[in-house]
Formats: sequence, structure tokens, C-alpha cells
Amino acid sequence: MPAVAVIGAQWGDEGKGKVVDILSEHADVVVRFQGGNNAGHTLVVGDETTIVHLIPSGVLQGKTCVIGNGVVVDPWVLIGERDKLRARGMLVEDEQLKISDRAHIIFPYHRAIDVAREAMRGGAALGTTGRGIGPTYEDKMARDGIRFADLLDEKSFPDMLRDSVERKNRYLTELLNGDAVDFQSVLEQCAVVRDQLAPHVTDTSVFLDKSLASGRRVLFEGGQGTMLDVDHGTYPFVTSSNTVSGAIATGAGVAPHRIGTVVGMCKAYTTRVGAGPFPTELHDEDGKRLQRDGSEFGATTGRPRRCGWFDAVVVRQAARLNGLHGLAITKLDVLTGFEKIKVCTAYELDGERIDCFPAAKAAVERVQPIYEELPGWDETLDRARSLEDLPKNARRYVKALEDLTGVPSFLVSVGARRRETILLRNPFAS
Ligand code: IMP
Repeated sequence: MPAVAVIGAQWGDEGKGKVVDILSEHADVVVRFQGGNNAGHTLVVGDETTIVHLIPSGVLQGKTCVIGNGVVVDPWVLIGERDKLRARGMLVEDEQLKISDRAHIIFPYHRAIDVAREAMRGGAALGTTGRGIGPTYEDKMARDGIRFADLLDEKSFPDMLRDSVERKNRYLTELLNGDAVDFQSVLEQCAVVRDQLAPHVTDTSVFLDKSLASGRRVLFEGGQGTMLDVDHGTYPFVTSSNTVSGAIATGAGVAPHRIGTVVGMCKAYTTRVGAGPFPTELHDEDGKRLQRDGSEFGATTGRPRRCGWFDAVVVRQAARLNGLHGLAITKLDVLTGFEKIKVCTAYELDGERIDCFPAAKAAVERVQPIYEELPGWDETLDRARSLEDLPKNARRYVKALEDLTGVPSFLVSVGARRRETILLRNPFAS
């Protein structure tokens, strides 16, 4: 199967970085197709930890990295990330990193608007990452954005940028109490960006089409997670892009039938950063313990992640929306030592049992999780390399997640390192 997708099945931070890094060994090309540097993928190789925000996690395996048209790109962040990786001997050739000429650019005014708008929302803030993601997607949909193809057009770009800066400055200063950005300074910075990034800019849809036609193996790396999808997530507490597998078609310019196997990433419990409903959230010692033992702090903003039990309603929703063929279950080791582990099997809403996630914000806030309790285990798991190496109750737990979600597991992760992994099925081989 030439194309595999890895998609977050919860609220993001499921450990996609590690799994994409492992699967990239079997891939030739790794592609981001939505989101931007709101994502943060942590990769641990040996004693070295690398966090990438924009460049696909396949970079450590030396694969061709593609940033598709559906991604919103902060070019300053991208240059910083590329140069850090180059200093470590990666991405040395320009053609190892490809940026879509149709990808939209995050400018300093987008970041300023994101931050000023969150401040203005006060207690009703969405808890965005403040990276300018939402304002850039808004401009894209309003047909008011600036893309890499525009940046490369030296003649028309200054007027486009001036026009944009003038309008955004009015919005920033008159409505949001923010500070204006300086057009001349942004223009000068953009000239540097153009020189630095022009060699990477290309029609990535054409590149991917040729790659797939010639049998190269392509891995699509999702950012965030299904419950943060702008249509299907916990709206309005979501990100501004579609995060589900269907977004690969539009965000990478690849026809839907070419997406082969879809792997859904989920933690063995649940976390969420930022505001918004979270039915299985724990406010007690168990929640604190998951946060401490799972080192649950955001890779992008460093914010503590909210923690709770595994929610099968959420992952079933992800299975349906993404067409999941397999699960990659991460952080099973974090559950070691719990005497009893709860799993949410369904919700109760106003006295009725429901199996799907409701759309209305008020209803989501009222749902009560219905739990099943499973026995825990005390043994450490980091040396397990097959399911048989796991203690009986850990095996039983994995089986319960498969049964409750209706999806078999392809991979179980028992630690942050590459080798701390049980690979049950290689999606490139299925
Ligand atoms: P934005 O994407 O910065 O606009 O933030 C919108 C919501 O999505 C906030 O609750 C963020 O915390 C959340 N979010 C954005 N990116 C990620 C991610 O990569 N992992 C987890 N949460 C994310």
C-alpha cells in the first residue's frame, strides 16, 4: 500500500511524532497537509529529544519532507526549524524539503490578531496557541490571504502586503486594542524569507502525484486530532482546519482513493490542552498522577494538559470519521500502578444513554460518562516488545480498547524511545 495516513483520534498530542518517526523508516516521502506550527511533535532518539512544529516528523529518518497547500506556514519558524535540523546534518539538500506554492503564509499581523483577540475574549478565550493559525485560515477563506506563489512574485507582492497590513492594522488597533505592525519592516523581513525559502517552493500536488505513480511510499502526518477538527470537533473549542483524513485530499492535493491505510493515534487515556468540553476529565489525584507520570505538558506552549480516562465515544467517532484501519495506542506504560482503570463506554445525556458525541455545546457540557472498570497492573512495560510480554491485565486493557472502538491495534507504545514499541502490523505492508 503506497500511502498511509496517521491521524490523531482524540484532542491532539497523542504521540504522532514518535509513530510517524517509526513508520517513516518504511516511507519515501512524509507530508503535512493541515494546521501549522500549533502542532508540536516530540521525537526521542537515543538521548536526544527534538520537537518539530512544522517540518514533518519523518525528517529524522532522512525522508523527503512536504508541507502541503493546506498548511499555514510561519516562514520565520520554518527557517529556524530547518536551520536547526541542518546544523544536525538533516535537510542539507534543498529538495529534501518541499513547500507548496499554494500554502498560505502566517504574517506577524496574524499572530498579533490571534493574541489580541484571545485577550479580548477574557474568560471566554479558546486557549489558542497564539501562533496566528485561526486568523490565517480566516484570510484564506475570505480570499484575502497571501500564498508562497505571491511571495515569489517580487513585482506584485509589496502592494499585496501593504494592502493587507493596512487593513489588519485598522482591525488590530481600532477593534482589538492591539499594536499596529510596521509594513516596511515586514516587507524587509519577507525579502529574506523569499531568498531562504524560494528553493523549496514548488507544486507539491504534482510532486506527490508523480511520487505515488512511481510507487514511492507516502506517509501523511496529521496535526492536532479529530476532536479539534473545525467541523467534527468540540466546536468552537477547535482549531481552524479539518484534521480528519478527508483533509488529506484537499490539503495535499491528492485524490481520495489514493489514501490507503489510515492509522488512528490515541493515548491509553485522554488529554486536552486549551479550553473546551472534556467529558472524562479528572480533577482528582488520578488526573494529577496521569499528568505527572505522562509528563503532560504541551510541546508547543508548555501548558499543562488536562487529563482523564480513555473515552471510547471519542475514538469511535474518530474511527467513523477517518475510516480507521488500525489504532496506535501510546503511553500504556503511564497506567502502570493504577489498581483500577476506568474506560468510558458511552454517555448519559438527560437520563438517556448515547453512543455518539452530541453537536450542541450545551449538550456536550451536560453529558456524563458511563464507565467500565478494568483491573490494573504493577509491572513496568518498557521492555515489552510483543503483546505476550505485557502483563495479563495490560493485554486485557488493550483488547478492551479494540473491542470498544471496533478497531484493531497496529502498534502499542510503552515508552518515549523508538525501541519502546510493540509493532503488531506495519501499515505499509497491509
Ligand atoms: P489554535 O490551533 O492555535 O487556533 O488553537 C485552537 C485549539 O486547538 C486550542 O485549544 C489549542 O490548545 C488546540 N491545539 C492546537 N494545536 C494543537 C496540538 O497540536 N495539540 C493539541 N492541541 C492543539
